[in-house]
Amino acid sequence: MNFPVVRYDMSPPRAQREDRILLYGAWIGPVKEHPDYCVSLKWNPHGIEPNWMYHQVFRILERDEAERIVRGLAEREFADGKGTASGRARDIKHNLQATSDERELPDLEKSVIAALERQQEFQAFALPKRFARPIFNRYEPGMHYGSHIDNSLLGGFNGLRSDLSMTLFLNSPAEYDGGELVIESYTGAEAFKLDAGEAIVYSAGSIHHVAPVTRGTRLAAITWMQSAVRLDNLREILYDLFHAVKLAEEGKCGFALSLSRSYHNLIRYAAEL
Ligand SMILES: [Fe+2]
Repeated sequence: MNFPVVRYDMSPPRAQREDRILLYGAWIGPVKEHPDYCVSLKWNPHGIEPNWMYHQVFRILERDEAERIVRGLAEREFADGKGTASGRARDIKHNLQATSDERELPDLEKSVIAALERQQEFQAFALPKRFARPIFNRYEPGMHYGSHIDNSLLGGFNGLRSDLSMTLFLNSPAEYDGGELVIESYTGAEAFKLDAGEAIVYSAGSIHHVAPVTRGTRLAAITWMQSAVRLDNLREILYDLFHAVKLAEEGKCGFALSLSRSYHNLIRYAAEL
């Protein structure tokens, strides 16, 4: 049997989720099935390989927390982003990055990691084991970052394997034109330009680019993470199961305990620590 790739959009508030699903790269709706029981159904009438591209939008910071970081960044120096690029990326990377002489993680960077560590939905999605040091970047008019993939090993073999990348938008999208993070896939491109404090978390192996900024300033924090579960498709199954457990527990279903046992035992089976 063939199954199309259907993915529920989990980014809008829960009440609106049932109205939109992603089908072959396009959001369609309304969809009247229960919005929560399946995050992702797969049904492929055209015989196209399922798209395992794994990404999700999360609110990581409240707007006032994002504003506090933006105020803090006004005190920091910014240098050419090519300084941390290697190979071909040096030719296509046109942005600025906040510098720091401190060996210890500065407070602003620390606050990004702390916010990621307390966001439960993000934790269930990414199952993060280690984070790379966050980088704050700034795009002024004319700046952009061409199509690339992120390095697989950060800091060499003793560093971390980048399974997932994150872009956390820090200022309002009304403050600039352009600047979308665009993730490219076999089914088309998806552009993300999010509210201050929202982040897109996506497979580090995805081809992606930052569209040119044509007005104003775009400020964002980026980081990478090694997940305890390396494979996107296995992590996706666990993420689906996480929601099924949550619903079963909320509904006080009789099978909640056995579902929860399966979820945790699967993590025990799959996690590398
Ligand atoms: Fe990138």
